[in-house]
Amino acid sequence: MLDFIEKYQSEIDAYVIANSEELENFRLKFLSKKGVISTLFQQFKEISPEKKKETGLRLNRLKESANHKYENQKGILSSSENFIARDLTLPAEPIPLGARHPVSLIRKEIVTAFSKIGFTVAEGPEIEDDWHVFTGLNFPVEHPARDMQDTFFIEKNPDIVLRTHTSSVQVRVMETLSPPIRKIFPGRVFRNEAISARAHCIFHQIEGLYIDRNVSFADLKQTLMFFAREMFGEKTQIRLRPSFFPFTEPSAEMDVSCTICGGSGCNVCKYTGYLEILGCGMVDPNVLEASSIDSKEYTGFAFGMGLERIAMLKYQVNDLRLYFENDIRFLKQFTSAY
Ligand code: PHE
Repeated sequence: MLDFIEKYQSEIDAYVIANSEELENFRLKFLSKKGVISTLFQQFKEISPEKKKETGLRLNRLKESANHKYENQKGILSSSENFIARDLTLPAEPIPLGARHPVSLIRKEIVTAFSKIGFTVAEGPEIEDDWHVFTGLNFPVEHPARDMQDTFFIEKNPDIVLRTHTSSVQVRVMETLSPPIRKIFPGRVFRNEAISARAHCIFHQIEGLYIDRNVSFADLKQTLMFFAREMFGEKTQIRLRPSFFPFTEPSAEMDVSCTICGGSGCNVCKYTGYLEILGCGMVDPNVLEASSIDSKEYTGFAFGMGLERIAMLKYQVNDLRLYFENDIRFLKQFTSAY
C-alpha cells in the first residue's frame, strides 16, 4: 500500500493542469467518490494494525496534497478566465508585419516618379523571339550580345531566348500602339553571367519610351533630370556621357551626383563624385521603321536602368546576391509605406 501511496503522490506532484477540463479530470481521478484516494481509504480498513499508523499518516498527506493542488489550480484558472472575460480591451495577438522586397520598393518609386509626368506601365514576355530582343532593335547579325556568352537560348533557328533586356517591350509596344507613346516597362531580364557580388544571371530593369512629333534630346535630358531629382533628391546633378547602343542614336550614359557624398568624392563613387545609373538615347530611325513608325514624322527617346543597381546605391548594399537569397534577416530591414 505504501508503494501505491508513493506512486500516486509523485503522479499528483507532476500532474499538469492547464484548463478547466484538465482540472475536472484531476478531480475525478483522485478526489471523487470512486477516485484513487477514496479507494485507498477503503483498502486501509483491511491492513494490519501495526501498519495502520504510518499508512494512515501517509494516506492523509496524499489526500491533503491532492486537495491543495485542486484548490490552488482552481483559483489560478478562475482568475485568469475571469480576467479574459472582463477585459475586452486587451490587445489581440500581434500579427507580424511583412516587408516589401527592396527591388519592389525601388520599382514602385521609379514607376511613381514617371507616372507624375504621364508615363504608364506596359509589360512584355520574358521568353522572346530574336526579332523583339535583337533584330527589331537594330542589332547587327554579328553583334556580340547575341553570342552564347550573354544570351540564354531556349531554341535555335528560329531563335527563342530569355530576354536580355526590357528593350524588347519597346518593340512590342511600337508594333501595337501608334504615337504618341509614353510608356515605362518594368521587368525581369536574364544574362548568361557568372554570379558574383556585382553580377547575376537574373536581374530587373525599367525601360522608358517616348515617341511623338518633335521629341528632342533636350526632352530626354529634362525627363531624366526630373526623374533623378524625384529619386535622389532636389540637389541631384546629372551628367550625360556619350555611349553606344544599337537601338539609339545618339546614345548616352547618365550619371547622377553621388548619393552619399553629394559630389565631393567618397569611396562609393570612387572619388569621381558621380554614379552611373542608366543608358539612354534617341530612338534610332531604323528601330522606328522596323516597327512601321514613320521616322520622318516621329522621333523619340528611350532609356533603361537596372533596379538592383539603383537599390544598391540607395540602400548601400554592396553585394547583389543578397537581393536574390531571400534571407529574412536582410528583407526585414526594408519597411515602407506602400
Ligand atoms: N537596353 C539597354 C541595356 O540593357 C539599356 C538602354 C535602354 C539603353 C534604352 C538605351 C535605351 O543596357
